[in-house]
Amino acid sequence: METVESESRIKNKESSLKKIELINLKDIQKMHYQRVKTGISEFDRVLGGGIVAGSLILVSGDPGIGKSTLLTELVLNHGHVPPLYISGEESAQQIKIRADRISPKENLVVLNETDVDVIIRAIEQFKPSLVIVDSVQTVQTQDLNSVAGSISQVKESANRLQKVAKSLHIPIFLIGHVTKEGTVAGPRTLEHVVDVVLSLEGDPSSNLRILRANKNRFGSTDEVGIFEMEDKGMVEVLNPSKMFLDQKIDAPGSVVTVVLTGLRPLLVEIQALVTKTNLPMPRRTASGIDNNRLQLIVAVLQKRVGLHLFDQDVFVNVAGGLKVVEPAADLAVAMAIISSIKDKPIKAKTAFVGEVGLLGELREVKGLDKRIVEAKKLGFTNIVSFKNAKNLSEAVRLGLR
Ligand code: TYD
Ligand code: MG
Repeated sequence: METVESESRIKNKESSLKKIELINLKDIQKMHYQRVKTGISEFDRVLGGGIVAGSLILVSGDPGIGKSTLLTELVLNHGHVPPLYISGEESAQQIKIRADRISPKENLVVLNETDVDVIIRAIEQFKPSLVIVDSVQTVQTQDLNSVAGSISQVKESANRLQKVAKSLHIPIFLIGHVTKEGTVAGPRTLEHVVDVVLSLEGDPSSNLRILRANKNRFGSTDEVGIFEMEDKGMVEVLNPSKMFLDQKIDAPGSVVTVVLTGLRPLLVEIQALVTKTNLPMPRRTASGIDNNRLQLIVAVLQKRVGLHLFDQDVFVNVAGGLKVVEPAADLAVAMAIISSIKDKPIKAKTAFVGEVGLLGELREVKGLDKRIVEAKKLGFTNIVSFKNAKNLSEAVRLGLR
């Protein structure tokens, strides 16, 4: 710790002697970020159109979810100048086995190193086109005496890598494991140090993987990238709506909605199961949507539609493991609950889009036209929304069989 502090004190002194220069925004020419395509379009989509030169990007996710696989794929796709894969977890042999599974291309240089200062020297010397550090929890500097993976080590290493990324205009990806208890320094501690935070999510029991931007200094955080984990690595899903609906069966409690993730409309299936409870406090369990939103929809259904849910457990699930944050899915959630408790399926070729208000009214959502176009592409011709139904009761009349 001490070395770092005394260094920064010296720097402070130096900076107090420097001439102060103010910058008028008028004098700055409009800057376009220089972006390089990754070769994986789902990845580019999440980054906002490619990798920005000199950016520091954190890719976080549970162990085993596929972070090393996805980034190996990225570097194997990357240009002529070999990228550098720095691994503190696996041997070059293990990385080669993974790379061989993914692609016959071998344009990759590996460095087995955990000392961040040695890593930085290697970057300065070899000037790779791109750097992957797998994982940030394994790197450390000798200047601090805490162990690798501790908060101070992870932060200091990321800070030093941020500086070298900016000064040499080389993008650096940091892989970070999310820990459940946060006992080892979680990647969350890095969120303000890095430019972009991506998270790779998915249910380990399915091969669907979703790449999401939680923070992006160079783009929107609404877009998601959708992949399937296969034998030969992560495969981009080109028609996600079709995939999400592939396993849908026509049964009570199953409802289709169209969500907007960034600019892209996606059809997803919302499922509900309503059963008599044996608990004094019936359960309201949501997976893939916000639990508070479910509570609210249940309350509206009781008060405005007269549904008896006080002695019923309500479970709601978004099929395929997608997380839906938009209120535009409210109507589909409500319809799934109604369909399940009445044990009646939804009409054929019908999808629902709409926010439900506290009075049971249907409210406008953004991008309805785009959603309708996507729904029609997949054969849904009857779209129930605020356009044709004023409230929940009217939606039931239009959509329930
Ligand atoms: P990995 O990328 O090592 O996960 P992480 O770096 O996030 O810990 O991948 C984990 C799992 O993925 C591993 O159990 C093997 C499997 N896998 C595939 O299914 N296909 C592949 O092509 C590869 C390389 C791995
Ligand atoms: Mg890994």
